[in-house]
Parts: sequence; structure tokens; C-alpha cells
Amino acid sequence: MASLEAGLPIKQVDAMIKRERDRYIQSNPVSRKLGEDARKNWVKGVPHHWMLDWSTPFPLFVADAKGTTLTDADGHTYDDFCLGDTGSMFGHSPEPVARAIAAQASHGLTYMLPTEDIIAVGAALERMFGLPFWQVATTATDANRFVLRWCRAITKRQKILVFHGCYHGAVDDTFVRLKDGRAIHRPGLIGQVYDLTANTKVVEFNDVPALQAALKDRDVACVITEPALTNIGMVLPQAGFLKALQQACRDTGTLLVIDETHTISTGYGGYTRTHGLKPDFLTLGKPVAGGLPCSVFGCTAEIAERMRAAEQEAGPGYSGMGTTLSANVLQFKAMRANLEEVMTPAAYAHMLPLSEKLARGIEAEITQRGLPWHVSNVGARAEFVCAPERPRNGSEAQDAMHGPVELAVHLYLLNRGLLIAPFHNMTLVSPATTPAQVDRLVATIGNCLDELAA
Ligand SMILES: Cc1ncc(COP(=O)(O)O)c(C=O)c1O
Repeated sequence: MASLEAGLPIKQVDAMIKRERDRYIQSNPVSRKLGEDARKNWVKGVPHHWMLDWSTPFPLFVADAKGTTLTDADGHTYDDFCLGDTGSMFGHSPEPVARAIAAQASHGLTYMLPTEDIIAVGAALERMFGLPFWQVATTATDANRFVLRWCRAITKRQKILVFHGCYHGAVDDTFVRLKDGRAIHRPGLIGQVYDLTANTKVVEFNDVPALQAALKDRDVACVITEPALTNIGMVLPQAGFLKALQQACRDTGTLLVIDETHTISTGYGGYTRTHGLKPDFLTLGKPVAGGLPCSVFGCTAEIAERMRAAEQEAGPGYSGMGTTLSANVLQFKAMRANLEEVMTPAAYAHMLPLSEKLARGIEAEITQRGLPWHVSNVGARAEFVCAPERPRNGSEAQDAMHGPVELAVHLYLLNRGLLIAPFHNMTLVSPATTPAQVDRLVATIGNCLDELAA
């Protein structure tokens, strides 16, 4: 019997990768040439090494993007279900955001002083998430780093707790994983010179006893988590888990930080509002200003009071937080337009049923072919997983990844004008996505599976 990878013959998977790589090379001479030229000045040929994480033999160069359509340097167009890995979740250059940026462009880009927009944006954030107090940073990474610092200052506790398989940006403290029940550094870290496991505890998501045991000594400043893990495939919270997490935090004086950067896909106000969570801090980056670098973190009135007290206690000096370009006027113009006119309940009313259609459509293609795969979705974010059971935690999610199969499917789709996120098999539906685009993605995945199984 032929050996199988995720229920598919390995031979077919390898043949598809080879065929699709050749097809990509043939079809993209301009990208290829630009990629060669770029090697002259850019380390590894790209200005940011994540651009090499796609399935392609050389980077796909972009010429234009609008809504959900992206055009490459060779003139091919794509239905974009990656959407900048969430930065453009509400479509590329949403009209109100583009207009706001253009209107501000010749009136100053950064002053390190506020404008009247901060009043409207503060109110919009409170309306959306129910938290009264906010700060702005430039990436979700920064928002998370600053929040961890505040949590430590407020609680006077050194440690934090993360779940195995988490990702919260380039935040040193969170680069800890579980191996054989012990905390270790996340494999592959570069330049890591101090022991992250000294101050970071790690347990499996959905494991309430392990969480309670890790918090019982009351030495953990905060738990930082996504409400569903979305960076190691997708791990959904089991019934009662998030409630138990909130209770365990309350019982031990541990603060709860909910990172909504990806789960903002859930609905208006993210997972927090949709499911009535009560975090101490909430962080959000990526799409909050329509794709312009920007992030926010919000907190309760009680936490804001404790922040004031902690600051007083620290005394004068440098807080260790903030960056020069944070909260600049361009971010505020974009964020105001985005929050008031783009990330609206009406937008979600379009996105959620369409993503559901996408998820159920892919599921039907999988079921028809008897593959041991499944589909998970969190609102506008849907993902097929090449394993039969929904993973309960990061370890199971990691085991469910099948690199070669995913590579073959990604390349097949890309060569047919369909982009899904290069990391695992994530798709996003934006307010600009059409049912026809969803139907085409579903049908093309079906064709791909037929070719792989043949
Ligand atoms: C949940 C979550 N938080 C934070 C981040 C960091 O975002 P950024 O890279 O924009 O700082 C990411 C990035 O993927 C993320 O998935």
C-alpha cells in the first residue's frame, strides 16, 4: 500500500509540489527577476524574512491590492483570503481609511501631540470592547510587551503564564513551550541569552487542573492568551474553559490579558464581547487601523487606578514603555475611519455567514473524499486541519500539521489565483469578499484534493 500523509499518497503530494513549483517559476518571470535583483541589498533577498515563509520558490511581488483583489508584478490577480495575515482583514485599503490617510498626508504625519481624534477613538474603543481606558502602541507585539510590564508593576509579581503553542508577537517572555511536561525555549530562537523559563510558566490550553496548579502559589502577574489559539493551527476553548480561566485568575489575584489580535474575527468587539469575557487588559493590533502599523491596549477602571498607583510608586524616570511614533496623527486618522466606518456590526454581518459558508464548503469537499481532516472557524477566520480530531491543545495542534500536504495545497491555490495565509491553512473573509470568491476557493480546494488523491 502506498504510504500516506494526512490520508493522501505521499507520491502524489510530492509530485504536485514539483509540478506546481515549476508552474510558478514559469508563470512569474517578473517576480523572479525582481527577486534576483533584491538579493543585492536585502538579507536573503527580502526586507522582512517572513516574506520567505510562503510556499513559493521565490517571493511573489505585489503591484496592487484593493478590497480582496491582489495583483502581482506579472499581472495575475488573486482572490486574497490571507489579507496580510489579518492586517488587512477588513479588505485592502478600505475606502474610508484610504480617504482619511490621503486627507492627512500633507498635514503632518507625526507630532507627538494629540489631536481631537483621540476623543472619538477612545469612545469608539469603549463602545466596541466595554473597557474605559486605552493606550496606543505601534504593533500588537508592543501592546503585549507593555501590558506585561504593567501587570508586573501592578501585582509586584515576576512571573507570567502562557499556553503551549501561543504566539503574541516578538515578545521575549512568551517564547516558552512545553516539552515532556517541562518549560523550554521555543525552538529556533536567535540571540536568546537569558533564561526565559525562569519567569514564564507554560501549561496546555484547555487544561484547567494544570492552570490552577500553576497559579496557586500566587506568583504569576498575569495569564496572557488568545481566547482561541490561532497561531498553531486553531485550538478552540472547550466548554467552560474560559470561565474556569477567569475564575482561576480571580481566585489567585492573577490578571487576565486577552489578546484579540486574531480573534477580532469573532464578531464586533472580538471574542471578548461576543462571549462576555471580563479581561483586565485587552490587546489588539494588526487590523485596528486598517493595516497601518498601530495597536491598542485597554483596561478596566480598577486596573487604570492600579496603574496610577504603580507609577507613583516607581517614582520619576523612564517607564520602559512607549515608542516615538506611537499614537501619531496618521494612525489616529486611519483608526478613527476604520473603527467608525469599516469595523462595524454591518461588516461582520457580511463576513460571518460568508466565512461559515466557506468553512462548511471546505468541510463538504473533505467529507466527500473521505479524508481524515476537519475545519475550524472563529467568526471570519476559518481553517482546514489535516487531522481527524479537533485539537484540544497546542501539542495536539502541532501533531496535526502536515507540512508537505499544506505546501502542495497552498501552491496549487496560489497558481490558480487564490491566496490563503502561508502559516498553516488559515483563511479570512473580509467585508469585500464575495460569495463567488468563496465558491471558487471551495471548488479549487476540491479539485486539488482530487488531483492529490488520484
Ligand atoms: C495573537 C497575536 N498577537 C500578537 C501578534 C503580533 O502582531 P505584530 O506582529 O503585528 O506585532 C500576532 C501576530 O501574528 C498574533 O497572532
